[in-house]
Amino acid sequence: MQNIVLIGFMGSGKSSLGREIAKQSERYFLDTDSLIESSLNKSVSKIFTHFGEEEFRRQEGVLLRWLSVNVKNAVISTGGGMPIFHNVRDLGVVFYLEIAFEQILARLGADTQSTRPLFSDENKARELYVSRLARYKEQAHFTLNAVKPLEILTKEILDLSFNQA
Ligand code: S3P
Repeated sequence: MQNIVLIGFMGSGKSSLGREIAKQSERYFLDTDSLIESSLNKSVSKIFTHFGEEEFRRQEGVLLRWLSVNVKNAVISTGGGMPIFHNVRDLGVVFYLEIAFEQILARLGADTQSTRPLFSDENKARELYVSRLARYKEQAHFTLNAVKPLEILTKEILDLSFNQA
């Protein structure tokens, strides 16, 4: 059974959706940011400050290779930049959660924005968002509109991944 892999920009709802899919399908939920944080015992924002983005991306690459060899039949939520810097199609069936930038702003409160190093400046985040759209679509097996109730998205993803198996 292949992994279900969720990709999308910061604030697109990958983690909440991933947890719901895992719950509904009795799979384990893994979040790449949390795995890197627990492995290095540092928050993502501290990793950026202490070691720099380049080291964070290297850690993502190491984790991606480990997951693709060792993990099957899980739900994996990826950090927003992972599919930009690495080929996540090696991990399983990839679902892109598409969402407008304005919707992301409405979802992410000021607190959440400040815990994400690449979201500290709204204009830069908007540019990053625009620059990434094509790459997300290229990496995805399926693109879904993320602005729907969790139960509907969960069902769509489980149906699509079942048909891919
Ligand atoms: C990043 C997204 C973050 C985290 C890091 C970099 C990005 O994950 O990996 O701050 O480059 O878009 P979320 O998408 O879970 O916020």
